[in-house]
Order: sequence, then structure tokens, then C-alpha cells
Amino acid sequence: MAVQISPSILSADFARLAEEARAVEAVSDWLHVDVMDNHFVPNLTLGLPVVESLLKHTTLPLDCHLMIDDPDQHAVGYAEAGAANVTIHAEAARAPVRTLRAIRAAGARAGLAVNPGTPVEPCEDLLPELDMLLLMTVDPGFGGQKFLDIVLPKLRRARAMVSAHGADVWLQVDGGVSEETIERCADAGADVFVAGSAVYDADDPAQVVNALREQAQLATAHASWARAR
Ligand code: DX5
Ligand code: ZN
Repeated sequence: MAVQISPSILSADFARLAEEARAVEAVSDWLHVDVMDNHFVPNLTLGLPVVESLLKHTTLPLDCHLMIDDPDQHAVGYAEAGAANVTIHAEAARAPVRTLRAIRAAGARAGLAVNPGTPVEPCEDLLPELDMLLLMTVDPGFGGQKFLDIVLPKLRRARAMVSAHGADVWLQVDGGVSEETIERCADAGADVFVAGSAVYDADDPAQVVNALREQAQLATAHASWARAR
């Protein structure tokens, strides 16, 4: 299973998004777009019009992470616009199955996110509806927060759950992922890594993406969950 890196533009310069996307285009698998509505999280970022514009300016597939109150209403619009992945929060969705199916029907991959304080076990029955499970490693809302090690046991349980079902579901981590923490995430079972401030606060964002990938690949090669496959 290949390691995938998804730089988050939350830490990029919002006035120069096209350029900032280009800075990581050659070395990244995805571009992570954090949609925040000031209700589900105490921060406001961008929405569908900006995603539509960004789609015209990057060749990277967009990984839209919706931190919004009413994903059942809004998620499908991002898929219809051309986002390659749309992730909704388990805490916000009232009809997750209907919404995840609508995302897939619109041609995108469907993701489900859980906050650090939300158990992952209730997601087990939803695995057939999912392409990716996102385990937040900070409480969502802001870039640059400290990685929460307490999520690592949950990540191990999520990996075991996905393996037990033989499900082709990616496990993403988001929040505080950096050269200091990425190996722990890979070792615990993550295969898709979001990094915001670690990438965009650096002088050379592409170089950091490469370094993160290398570290994650090495840690995965030694991880018991990956060797058991
Ligand atoms: C936080 C967002 C993240 C954010 C991560 O709520 O979902 O995607 O950009 O930023 P860092 O990597 O700086 O923690
Ligand atoms: Zn995110």
C-alpha cells in the first residue's frame, strides 16, 4: 500500500492559492482543502466558489475536508464540482449513508472523519460506504496545533477493523502531522497523511513533502500491520 501525502492549504497564503498549490504539485498525491463554517468549528475558511476556482488552477486532485454543520446538505456539491474526495464529519452528519452514497454517485471518493474524542467503532458498519476514514489528530478548526498522541491507539484499532473486513478503505490522519510525528502515524496504521503548517510554513514546501513521504514509507515498511498484509 502506497503512502500518500495531502498538503493542507489551510496554512498556505489564501491570496495566492494557485501558486501555493503549484509549489507542491509535482510531489503530492492530493491537495487537502479545509472547508470551515464557523459553526461546526470556530473558524471560517472557504467554500464551494473557491474550490471551483482552485480546480481550474491545479492538476492535483482535491481532498475536501468539510468541517461544517450540515454536510448532508452541502457535501454533494463539492463532488459535483469535481473534488476527487469529499470527507464529512461523523459528528455533523445526520444521514451519513445517504450523504456518502450521494458523494460516490457524483463521482468522488467518500470520506468519513472522526474527532479525537469520537470513538471509531461505530463507523464499522459504515465501512462498505467509505473510501477513506479520517482520524483527526487534533480537534479541528485550526492549523498548527499540537499532535494528539492519544489518538494512536484508536488508529491501531481502526487499522485492525479495516483489515478484519478486508475493506479497501484508506486511513487518513490530519492535525499536527510533521517530520516529528509522521512515523508514529504510519506505524499505527495511517496511509494518507495531511500536513498543513509542516509543509507551508517551510521555506521549501516540496522538499518537506518529499521528506515526509520518505519517513512514512520507511515506517510503514517496518510496521507490523503492513507486514501482516
Ligand atoms: C485542522 C485541519 C487541518 C489543518 C492541519 O482542523 O483539518 O487540515 O490544516 O494543519 P496542521 O498540519 O498544521 O496541524
Ligand atoms: Zn483537514
